[in-house]
Amino acid sequence: MRFEVKTGAATKLQTSCLILPVFSSGPLTATTRSVDAACHGLITDLVNGGDIRGKIGDTLIARSGVALTAKRIMLVGCGEKSKFNRKQYRKALQAAYSALARTRHTDATSALHLEAVKGADVARRASIAAEVWQNASYRYTETRSDANEADSDSEIESLGLLAGSGKAADVRKGLKRGAAIGAGMRLSRELGNLPANVCTPSHLAATARKIARGNDKLKVEVLGEAEMKKLGMGSLLSVTAGTVEPAKLIVMRYSGAAKKKAPIALVGKGVTFDSGGISLKPGAGMDEMKFDMCGAATVLGCMEAIARLKLPLNVVGCVPACENLPSGIATKPGDIVTSMAGKTIEVLNTDAEGRLILCDALTYVQKYKPRAIIDIATLTGACLVALGKHRSGLLANSDKLAKALQKAGDNADDPAWRLPLGDEYRQLLKSNFADLANIGGRDAGTITAACFLSEFVKDVDWAHLDIAGTAWLSGPKKGSTGRPIPLLLEYLTSVA
Ligand code: BES
Ligand code: MN
Ligand code: ZN
Repeated sequence: MRFEVKTGAATKLQTSCLILPVFSSGPLTATTRSVDAACHGLITDLVNGGDIRGKIGDTLIARSGVALTAKRIMLVGCGEKSKFNRKQYRKALQAAYSALARTRHTDATSALHLEAVKGADVARRASIAAEVWQNASYRYTETRSDANEADSDSEIESLGLLAGSGKAADVRKGLKRGAAIGAGMRLSRELGNLPANVCTPSHLAATARKIARGNDKLKVEVLGEAEMKKLGMGSLLSVTAGTVEPAKLIVMRYSGAAKKKAPIALVGKGVTFDSGGISLKPGAGMDEMKFDMCGAATVLGCMEAIARLKLPLNVVGCVPACENLPSGIATKPGDIVTSMAGKTIEVLNTDAEGRLILCDALTYVQKYKPRAIIDIATLTGACLVALGKHRSGLLANSDKLAKALQKAGDNADDPAWRLPLGDEYRQLLKSNFADLANIGGRDAGTITAACFLSEFVKDVDWAHLDIAGTAWLSGPKKGSTGRPIPLLLEYLTSVA
């Protein structure tokens, strides 16, 4: 799907369908009024005649008549004008897309972003439009033979945003940004949704290479198990011990700024299937552990968006990727492994594997002397219990970084919530036989997991996003969400 900015008057547009806002009360707003005047009160008649109430999500498509160059108009209910915030605006955009996708129109132009929205200037509104539509148009088809059927509700090829007077530059900038974020989210969602027999560590590595192809600002390096062994990554390798699928450590380097500028490191958990290993998980819902690589998908999606936006930053994306399966040669509870940092770890539960691969990746990325490290991981079921599916868990050794990420999440409508770290929690990871145990008992599971990771970051600002709740939906809407890419892109642009 293409996105474009359309300049000129709303009444003179070459478009199949002109999308206009209608609020539930009060007069028509400026753009809608200008169109109404041009087509002799058609909209006033539809509204006063009761054809549309203007509630959020209502839509009505009507013939525009000869007075407009647009073939059709679509009125979109936006609710009460005084309550039109980002959430309502997103709903209106979504409704407009769904209504259009049910038609045969292949293009449309929207004026929804020309209305004031609480907490979003016009560039942000354009960005949100592209992000919402990129996501609305995403369909998983890869392994469905009814793919065409599933796709038949969308013949849309191009969506335009009206420039509005004097706003073209902001609309263009926002549109580009939202389209890039949306593209990153689509990539991330696709990787998440693919089954684990397709989306293997090797598939993640191939995807990283594909993202970088033809872009001289992006370099990819993939380490195999022999190289990881040489580096002493005994912790990471202990997780992959039970499977025949080769583990990969994927490193993507984006150079958008001067060489001497310290990079930001993004580290994403890439467990392409988490059975729990010898500490086997219960069967019900285990299929959802194909989503245990959503941290990795987030990093790859971010790299895609960063590259599209040509952000003036250096970024290192690092993905430790493997499967966690039981077998005769799998790691056993009680086994002690040595991490790349030299710390020994007693693996009391093989299902606490995310931290075991992340700790070696965290040690590894520190060689790039990053100015900040952010890891992203579907790390603990406890995070889902604490925060549900609405907010990602946020834990950090730096108040400044935590505040910046919290703010980025709020601004991007992809919120996180901070949980504490502290010595009192760290105590729970004590082992009689090793430097550290990989679990801390039943209490405060999200915090003890982050405490474990914090042992491997020294003298660098670090934050951990636990996305166990936010990375995918369960039930009838089962599927990957593309979160927390909006949060991370918001943060990265704020520091670029
Ligand atoms: N990938 C899971 C975390 C998870 C579970 C995410 C359910 C989303 C939904 C992780 O590897 C795991 O198994 N964590 C254990 C840790 C425990 C053994 C300390 C958990 O949360 O139960
Ligand atoms: Mn696990
Ligand atoms: Zn896991």
